[in-house]
This record gives sequence, C-alpha cells and structure tokens, in this order.
Amino acid sequence: MSDVDVVVFGSINEDVTVHLARMPEAGETVGGRTLQTGCGGKGANQAVAAARLGARTAMVGSVGTDPAGRRQLDALHDAGVDTTGVRLVGAATGTALALVDDDGENRIVVVPGANELAPTNGDLLRDAAVLICQLEVPVPAVAAVAAAASGFFALNAAPAMAVPSALLARCDLLVMNETERDALGAIAPSGYTAVTLGAAGALLLRDGREIARAAAPRVEVVDTIGAGDAFVAALAIALARGWDPRTALEAACLVGADAVQHPGARPPLHPLEHYRPSSD
Ligand code: RIB
Repeated sequence: MSDVDVVVFGSINEDVTVHLARMPEAGETVGGRTLQTGCGGKGANQAVAAARLGARTAMVGSVGTDPAGRRQLDALHDAGVDTTGVRLVGAATGTALALVDDDGENRIVVVPGANELAPTNGDLLRDAAVLICQLEVPVPAVAAVAAAASGFFALNAAPAMAVPSALLARCDLLVMNETERDALGAIAPSGYTAVTLGAAGALLLRDGREIARAAAPRVEVVDTIGAGDAFVAALAIALARGWDPRTALEAACLVGADAVQHPGARPPLHPLEHYRPSSD
C-alpha cells in the first residue's frame, strides 16, 4: 500500500449557503436569514470525512487559480488531506449555491467550473487501496479512473444521472439516495449497493438482494449538507477494511447522524472505530 489509504477523485467547490425559514415555491421570492461562504464539493467533503474518520487520505481534482481555489486547497490541507493530486487550472473554482431550511433540508445548484478539468492520470489513482468517486466531475473521467483502479472502488452516484454499465460493473460499492437510484435504474452487478433513505436510515444490497438495513438514530437535524458524503466515506472505508456489512452500514448511519447535527458540509467526526456498534 502507498502512504495513503484512501484517494478521493472528484469535485472541490466553494459553497455559498443561504439559511432560510422555508424553501421558495416556483416564482416566489422569500427572505433569507444568513449567507455563508464555505467549503464543499462532494469529492472534497468525502476526502475530509475520510481524513477525520482516521484514514490517510489524498484528494485528486481541480481548482481554479482564483482566491476560492486557494481557500479550498488550504482547507483540504488544514483537514489533513494530501493535496499533491489537486491541479490548478485556468477556470473558475467550482461553486455550489445551497439553500438550507429550518428543517435542515437542502436544495443545491452546482456550477462545475474547474471540476470539468479534473486530472485522470497518475499513480495515486491507480494504486489507491480505496478509491472513492462521485459524479460532479465528468462521467468519462470517472469511468477512466475506475477502469484503471487496482483497489477497492466506491462510487457515489450523485448527482443523479445515468452511468455506463462498465462503470457500474467495476463498483465494489455503489451508494445512492432514492432519487439517484430512480435516475440510475440499476445496482452494482457484483459489489455492494447502498441506498440512503434519509431519516429512515439506509439499506445494503448484494446480488440484488437486501442483506442489511440500518435505522438512523433520532437526532436534532441542523444541516443535512455533507451528511451523505460522510456516510459514503465511512461505509467505503469500513467495507474495504473487511467489516461485516451490517456493522459497516450501522456505523455509516451513525456517522451520517453525527454529521447532520453540525452546520456546513464538513462536520467534525470521530475516528471510524468510535461508530462501530459494540456487537461486532
Ligand atoms: O454533498 C454536498 C455537496 O454537494 C455540497 O458541499 C456542494 O458543494 C455540492 O457539491
């Protein structure tokens, strides 16, 4: 194994988040309460979650040479993520515009910018013990990286879209929410498929058959942004380490529940072992 455990290939965004009482209807204008600029991108969030869960983690992706790119690189570095695989490119750093209502629910629009130019070559990606991807970088790039990967490969099929069957076939783990599952209309043919169910927890399939279901603990929801990313990182690491699938799913749900209790896309987390149910 190289000196990192987990490599995340994917998006790095600056999140511009408005907190408001309720979401506007189509054609409606509503007042916002606060506006915050912070760190995001499904890829970068998953990298930071993996690092906070205790894995030695590297990020591969792209940011612009603009101040937002510098801020996002610094934040990854400060979170303990190896950023040698992050390329500076001549495009604006990816930006996400997010609305978060009083129930903690969110709506997000992403302008990919530099994420369209994420670099797909390099030993880091090929040799990763655990490689995690999402779909905020071009699908052909994800497919190329997955085809070359030699380790455990996890795909978070978010945002919702169709992907080539060869990419699905390479998945040791495919993670989706219910919207994404409907858009994809498929499961991982030979690996695990996890479907997150929001407050109802998550389920895990193998060979099209449900093998585990875990409830989400009842907690006070502050912000759901980034909770799915923390879940993905936790489940990928736990399964790659050989944890029993039910134990891994329960631990990932606990991580997700921890994440929703904190504002922003990069919640503080404990090492993964902290979330391991004691029965395993
Ligand atoms: O998964 C949450 C992330 O989705 C946000 O941080 C935002 O950047 C979007 O990419």
